[in-house]
Amino acid sequence: MKLIHVVGARPNFMKAAPVLSALKQYPSVRQMIVHTGQHYDANMSQVFFQQLSIPEPDINLQVGSGSHAQQTAEIMSRFEVVVTGERPDLVLVYGDVNSTIAAALVCAKLGVKIGHVEAGLRSFDRSMPEEINRLLTDQLADLLFTPSIDGDKNLAREGIAACKVHFVGNVMIDTLVRLLPEAKKNIPSHLPERFILVTLHRPSNVDDDKWLSKAYELLSEVSESIPVLFPVHPRTRKRLESVMNEKPRSSGLKLLTPLSYLEFVGLQTRASLVLTDSGGIQEEATYLGIPCITMRENTERPITVDVGTNVLVGRDLTRARAVLHETLSGRFRRGSIPDLWDGRASERIARVVVS
Ligand code: UD1
Repeated sequence: MKLIHVVGARPNFMKAAPVLSALKQYPSVRQMIVHTGQHYDANMSQVFFQQLSIPEPDINLQVGSGSHAQQTAEIMSRFEVVVTGERPDLVLVYGDVNSTIAAALVCAKLGVKIGHVEAGLRSFDRSMPEEINRLLTDQLADLLFTPSIDGDKNLAREGIAACKVHFVGNVMIDTLVRLLPEAKKNIPSHLPERFILVTLHRPSNVDDDKWLSKAYELLSEVSESIPVLFPVHPRTRKRLESVMNEKPRSSGLKLLTPLSYLEFVGLQTRASLVLTDSGGIQEEATYLGIPCITMRENTERPITVDVGTNVLVGRDLTRARAVLHETLSGRFRRGSIPDLWDGRASERIARVVVS
């Protein structure tokens, strides 16, 4: 069996790594990695390949940045050449980024079987580019691997045949389980006793200067009483610079370059709380039992709110302040770990793939 993994953006890498390694146990499977080049900075891509021990991509499509249509179209036209030449039996796509839908569309048109890892998640918010990518990829996929049971329910509601859907658990947690000991070894010794870890990069938060300015003020205010560490995504840095010029900066607010996987996980384990708009971090915080405040109106990962440590605050700054205050004074739900977030999701995927 010839199988191509398509990855392109930072959150894909920690999902593909364990699946690649689980499939290595089956000598009948020949694996190839295609990197679309959606993310190209060393600290958004290369460092993840190194730390996660992912082999060098066989092919890099080098599409780079652009509008959604440009990026998706470039990936499609370049990936079509690869699929036509290689004729794989199965293409695995990951998550909800533009690389995911672009590769799935190419395969669907060429009659090549598609597996979607992290299928079925829904925010029910079509203003998010990722929601469009999720909905369409799941319609096209032949094998749908869900991380949590809400995914199965969403897919059933959308008319996807149950025989295509496999509840396997969360591959992101596979990577976390494997690398947690390593990440803990690498925690810097000079970290403050207590701190808040922040990431923000969603267009809904960072592409709106007025809102970003308010969010920045909140972070500055909080950092007067507890240090705030904020590794800044390239998309956010551009927008934040204009906002910051107009405001005084608190010395407790530390803006950092994007961190490697091990550095970030290490910090997460020690954080008093994380404040984020990322999808994967809501899951990691739930697994680690670290309180998580999500600056979004909705989440495609409701299980992190229902059973985990996640609280959605949206754009409600009064609520954000209240939840921050309560959490820092020790009042937060401890949460529990969702079913099948046990470090073995990729083994289950591999078994389905070879069956
Ligand atoms: C993408 C995903 C998002 C994911 C995020 C994680 C889509 C629609 N969005 O968003 O779901 O949570 O990745 O990081 O696929 N840039 C760089 N260097 C890079 C990559 C990007 O400077 O290596 C800058 C470029 O200016 C680019 C901007 O960041 O225009 C946004 O990058 P893009 O890949 O379009 O989307 P993300 O915001 O990273």
